[in-house]
Amino acid sequence: MASFTQQASMLLLLLLLPLLFKGILCPWPSPEAGQVLGPHHLAGEEPLSFQVLQISLFANSSWENNQGSGWLGEVQTHRWDSVSGTISYLLPWSRGNFTKEELESIQALLQLYFRLFPEEVQAHSRQFQLEYPFVIQISSGCTMHPGKASEAFLYGAYQGSDFLSFQGYSWKPSPGAGSLAQNVCKVLNRYRVIKEVARNLLSYTCPRFLAGIAAAGKSELERQVKPEAWVSKGASPGPGRLLLVCHVSGFHPKPVWVRWMRGEQVQPGTQQGDILPNADRTGIFE
Ligand SMILES: *[C@@H]1O[C@H](CO)[C@@H](O)[C@H](O)[C@H]1NC(C)=O
Ligand SMILES: *[C@@H]1O[C@H](CO)[C@@H](O)[C@H](O)[C@H]1NC(C)=O
Repeated sequence: MASFTQQASMLLLLLLLPLLFKGILCPWPSPEAGQVLGPHHLAGEEPLSFQVLQISLFANSSWENNQGSGWLGEVQTHRWDSVSGTISYLLPWSRGNFTKEELESIQALLQLYFRLFPEEVQAHSRQFQLEYPFVIQISSGCTMHPGKASEAFLYGAYQGSDFLSFQGYSWKPSPGAGSLAQNVCKVLNRYRVIKEVARNLLSYTCPRFLAGIAAAGKSELERQVKPEAWVSKGASPGPGRLLLVCHVSGFHPKPVWVRWMRGEQVQPGTQQGDILPNADRTGIFE
């Protein structure tokens, strides 16, 4: 039943495993897993996550595009350069405290992954009756809760809807994702090596990396920048009426409280927009 590509990918993963286990993975179960984070959380008692996002677009059976990025909380720290097959480190502290060898092992694993993933999807598109064009999105990573064990997650979406997740040691179809997700999970659950690698990356490598990068990026994450505010005139909502817009920009962190005052009184009935990120990772709010 296993196709040639499945066998080839298994072989490659098996060849790669000794390298991985030496460099970045440790044999499960690890006594430290989930406990590395205790004293390293940030001063704010907020949970903090590191996640890798993948967006893969399949236009037809011979064309696909894969994008990968790494995020610490809401700050983008990494981008996958699919042309050179390398990790781009977007900030001076994006390497956390991993060694050059550890980062090279992860890069080698990602090179293999970004080659095999589209191959496997294309090879199975007919079996699973996937209709082109389609998009697969994957969010995977770990969250540290102050004073608690870290938590790993991996969610997959197909055509923009929840599709499956990796829980503990198995692939689970998302509620409402139907028989396609059930069939895909059934197939995925046969591959112990993939589950082993996924579990170790999420539950061992990720929390270690998160602790290091959170410490390295601490000053940036904790930096406080005061907002700048200015008022402008918006398009008139009707005759004899004036629309005033208060802009608040350049602040960090994100939580912000903005009110219109008349004397000492808060003016009710004002409209608030969303907070949008600025390019320098401060916020903008209108
Ligand atoms: C596949 O999609 C790409 C991108 O849209 C397009 O350029 C190419 O011609 C398509 N190939 C086939 C065989 O349909
Ligand atoms: C990396 O940083 C984390 C958190 O500060 C720490 O627990 C860990 O020991 C460090 N690892 C190395 C190899 O320095």
